[in-house]
Amino acid sequence: MTAPDAYPGAAGDRRPGPPAIPGQAAAPASTAPGFPGVPGGHGGLEPPGEVITLQGAGKTYPGGLTALDNADLTIREGELVAIVGPSGSGKSTLLNLMGTLDRPSSGRVEVLGHDVATLSDRRLSAVRARWIGFVFQQFFLSPHLSALDNVATGLLYHGIGHSRRRERAAEALTRVGLGHRLDHKPHELSGGERQRTAIARAVVSRPRIVLADEPTGALDSTSGAAVVQLLRDLNAQGTTIAVITHDRQLADSLPRRVRILDGRIQEDDMAGTAA
Ligand SMILES: Nc1ncnc2c1ncn2[C@@H]1O[C@H](COP(=O)(O)OP(=O)(O)O)[C@@H](O)[C@H]1O
Ligand SMILES: [Mg+2]
Repeated sequence: MTAPDAYPGAAGDRRPGPPAIPGQAAAPASTAPGFPGVPGGHGGLEPPGEVITLQGAGKTYPGGLTALDNADLTIREGELVAIVGPSGSGKSTLLNLMGTLDRPSSGRVEVLGHDVATLSDRRLSAVRARWIGFVFQQFFLSPHLSALDNVATGLLYHGIGHSRRRERAAEALTRVGLGHRLDHKPHELSGGERQRTAIARAVVSRPRIVLADEPTGALDSTSGAAVVQLLRDLNAQGTTIAVITHDRQLADSLPRRVRILDGRIQEDDMAGTAA
């Protein structure tokens, strides 16, 4: 399989510019240096808001295979959640529902207060482009574009002019340690550098949520560790993150683990406090 030109999600839908999202305030200004995110600091007085909520969410693919069955899951602002389970258990299906890349066949999915079922495809892509960044195992970088231009695509349809997009892309690449690789094409980058480029693209629009589907799956352990550290830094600066991983050590090091088996959430070690 050759890499597609557009990665699924974020600005990848190539639809006309996103409309204003009704009832949604403008992006919160960044308060932290480095990776921008939502301001943290709830003062410990109120529980952080719900960012993603699944209620009895299910997904049955055409042909009748139920990949996700009756999933209840709440992810709150500022969380860093590992999603674990064997191959074929429904992890990517779950992440795709969380990221509005797909709609549930049953139940309810809410992202930042938007009920996915009530939004048109166009509005859904606007929510996605504005608030969610995606990172995939296969990077999905455009082979013909430089690292800089790949990252700048994360700002398409944000109403930002070309030169400002490139400035922001250069800043994002510098933050992931690739300020010296701006003009390199993907084939001129190592695997770890490609994934860091993909992370820069995911965060250049300052999303509130980053969803990562086995981001270290194609990397050696050193590059993988660097990618994980980037995700931790992002989270420390306020971005809510869910990461699918096969890496037991990584999962065990994260504050919350959601375990899936045969399309069902088997275990959620924060279930008692997150509900
Ligand atoms: N688009 C699809 N159409 C039909 N079946 C699918 C599709 N995507 C995934 N599946 C099936 O759904 C199940 C769960 O898949 P997936 O969510 O990708 O699992 P995981 O990410 O845990 O490996 C698997 O049996 C897979 O073959
Ligand atoms: Mg998967």
